[in-house]
Amino acid sequence: MSRFPADFLWGGAVSNVQAEGAWLTDGKGLNVYDTQDIILESGQKTIDSSELASNHYYQFKEDIKLMKDMGFKAYRFSVVWSRIHPLGDDDNPNEAGLRYYEEMIDELIDAGIEPVVSLVHFDMPDNLAKKYNGFYNRQVVDLYLKHVAIVVERLKSKVKYWITYNEMNLAPFHPGLVAGAKRPNGVEQAAFFKTIVHHTQLAHARAVLAIKAAIPDAKVSGMTNCPWVVPATSASEDVLASHIRNTYHLWLTFDVMTSGKYPAYYLQFLKNRGIATEFDGLDDIQEAAEKLDYLSISYYQTNTIRGVIDDNVVAMEDAIIFNQPVEISEGLNATEWGWAIDPVGFRTVLSSVYQRYNKPIFIVENGIALLETPDENQFVSDDARIQYHRDHLRSVYQAMQYDGVDIIGYLAWSPIDFLSSHKEMRKRYGFIRIDTSPNQHGFLLRTPKKSWYWYQSIINSNGELLDEA
Ligand code: BG6
Repeated sequence: MSRFPADFLWGGAVSNVQAEGAWLTDGKGLNVYDTQDIILESGQKTIDSSELASNHYYQFKEDIKLMKDMGFKAYRFSVVWSRIHPLGDDDNPNEAGLRYYEEMIDELIDAGIEPVVSLVHFDMPDNLAKKYNGFYNRQVVDLYLKHVAIVVERLKSKVKYWITYNEMNLAPFHPGLVAGAKRPNGVEQAAFFKTIVHHTQLAHARAVLAIKAAIPDAKVSGMTNCPWVVPATSASEDVLASHIRNTYHLWLTFDVMTSGKYPAYYLQFLKNRGIATEFDGLDDIQEAAEKLDYLSISYYQTNTIRGVIDDNVVAMEDAIIFNQPVEISEGLNATEWGWAIDPVGFRTVLSSVYQRYNKPIFIVENGIALLETPDENQFVSDDARIQYHRDHLRSVYQAMQYDGVDIIGYLAWSPIDFLSSHKEMRKRYGFIRIDTSPNQHGFLLRTPKKSWYWYQSIINSNGELLDEA
């Protein structure tokens, strides 16, 4: 019988740029999510605007009420950088933006829901991307910290759980959306990688220190996505490829955050490419590591990778790190968008992360995107979503019960439907359906799906009902 800890934080998470809409309302500036050049992902059919999204800006109270009714103990959302600093280099913050998030947090606290706040979630002001080249530019680290200081000062009496940077490990691989940066002409891939890694690590570290200085009992974490790969075959080249890929796409970020140092393998990686191994701000990175409370992760899928044969080892490694396509493991089902469904892999990831760092883990994103057709009452019978969360939660339980992993909570992706990171509204993740046609008052109808009732029963039983088929 599954027994979760009594204080387990059940809940959900949202990225506000993907849900709020109101993209130029009350002083907000456009950000990299609003303006990104979309390259369609596999299975994607539409690109929808973030102008309206889920209209969460105007309907957040209704959404929080539905989360409360589901039994949420915690809710993660992001404070949109360009709502507070529309240009990013503004002299003063936008008061309406600060007030908005303060009101949202008050609403959560009244509902008995613990707010978990993310900073930087695909929301860098477009101006910082265009004028400075985002986190490729060292100045943007300082502008980010100025922003963080203001947000923290305003919310410090209400928020305990903080996440400094959403999926920081993806910044060098998806630099436009995740770091607001482009690789300048003439800059080699590895040199660009080093700069983005260092500036985002520094931004994270100084944010940890700023939060801890303002809120001594804050619980602060860094966050990575878990793009876990396994060897396509038992061939040693494939095993080596999976080791290299996981090292640079996942471990490096947490290795630095938790040890406060650049590890030997990474210094060697730089040397082998003729790149200097000096860094500024290492003392802060070290101090932040000592203050980090927990690790946040998102998990969606696993993949397989094949080795690359090349006598030039650096070229072989670069091919694996930067170019080698990944594939779906034989025997796994995948979503419409080709994301493999692998709950067993989730236990492996949780257990591996915990064994490596021995820090509590907060699962702050896990969910499945589905194509959905509601009935005439807007009701959606999303059995595949129930199955996905049930299987993944069983793995969470197994990681705790059989591997001794310390897990703070599970925040499902997501309570409500919203635009995907590629801005597709067909790609739905929510327990609550959002009808995209506004009514006469401009509001979008919310309707709990079958999974809403299921997740409510899981939370109410503190996981015991997971045992039911
Ligand atoms: C995570 C992001 O990488 O994946 C979310 O933090 C995103 O913002 C989620 O929505 C799912 O990806 P997508 O592309 O399907 O929205």
